[in-house]
Amino acid sequence: AASYPFFGEHQSGILTAAQDRLHFAAYDVSDISRDELEELLADWTYAADRMSTGLGAGAYGPASGPYDSPPDDTGEALDLPPSGLTITFGFGPSLFDDRFGLAGRRPAALIDLPHFPGDALVDTLVGGDLCIQACSDDPQVAVHAIRNLSRIAFGRASIRWSQLGFGRTSSTTRAQATPRNLFGFKDGTANLRAEDAETAKDVWVQSGDGAEWMTGGSYLVARKIRMTIETWDRSSLREQERVVGRTKGEGAPLSGGEEFTAPDFAATGRGDAPLIDEAAHVRLAHPDTNAGATMLRRGYNFVDGNDDLGRLNAGLFFICFQRDPREQFVPIQLRLAKNDAMNEYVRHVGSGIFAVPPGARKGGSIGAGLFA
Ligand code: HEM
Repeated sequence: AASYPFFGEHQSGILTAAQDRLHFAAYDVSDISRDELEELLADWTYAADRMSTGLGAGAYGPASGPYDSPPDDTGEALDLPPSGLTITFGFGPSLFDDRFGLAGRRPAALIDLPHFPGDALVDTLVGGDLCIQACSDDPQVAVHAIRNLSRIAFGRASIRWSQLGFGRTSSTTRAQATPRNLFGFKDGTANLRAEDAETAKDVWVQSGDGAEWMTGGSYLVARKIRMTIETWDRSSLREQERVVGRTKGEGAPLSGGEEFTAPDFAATGRGDAPLIDEAAHVRLAHPDTNAGATMLRRGYNFVDGNDDLGRLNAGLFFICFQRDPREQFVPIQLRLAKNDAMNEYVRHVGSGIFAVPPGARKGGSIGAGLFA
């Protein structure tokens, strides 16, 4: 099974070939000092490095150590391989305040996201001082990582909101087949790919972009997007394909060709109507419509049981990474929020934005540059 190193120039879990499962958690930091916050990040680094290689979170492991103390690992991943586990840390806007003397260190790109038309955000699914994205091909391994990092943080940080995801809705390398989202459509066809030379400049913060400590890092935007599945499932195939702008089977653009054929937005059919609707999701999200803006999408499907009306509480936990959300996520989402035909079938209920620092050096801590 795959294993990815925790230490390196960039954090893993971004350009890493998207794994099948997600456990994402946003944390509030308790009333602790700046030194204690640094200690927490050091303790998280130690455990994240170990778990990424398939070891327990602590050196004793779940079944040894002082008999009268709680074990330093919870045990449910004992005997399981690392299963491609990546653990990615981020810092939310609210971390950059006077509590930790960090007010002057907030990167300009770490904006407070604007209110987008149609947003139906739920207070309990928004924000966070810190976030951890754990991805793995085994759900138990991803959950084990978040559980142990939360346990280690006890008294210093606690979970504010979190999300489990199954079924990746993106490909981030050329070797991966395109998966499908819960609308039944291929998702990730036109995503940025790790192998492509241009990807780096759209994903990683470059020297000179602003806060130097972020060089080699990225910005994560998470949106919990509820899908009104029942309405979607009663809409015609024609309507479904019009909304997306691609065919449901092959994922080809409605202007013709195959999955990876570039869409032709000027192509028209009967009565000079555009083959790809003016309000189709792919038209409005495409770089040609957005002054060349792109992003690395890395989201997951979710089903959190059902609501009071017996409808699936399901959707897409959208995650994207980019060099500057002011020029990538925000303008694209503004355009989608105003005009996307898909809006009739989706509702944004959760939201977070986080500065994802560069990778940690062996012997150093994640985010060390912020405190230097
Ligand atoms: C493309 C679904 C939300 C940005 C696509 C495609 C599908 C899709 C089926 C076409 C296949 C592909 O190229 O991957 C969805 C669903 C969403 C959602 C079901 C919500 C539940 C969003 C959001 C954004 C976004 C919130 C960004 C603000 C994009 C981009 C593309 C895309 C950039 C590629 C467009 C292109 O270059 O052709 N999406 N999407 N999507 N989506 Fe979404």
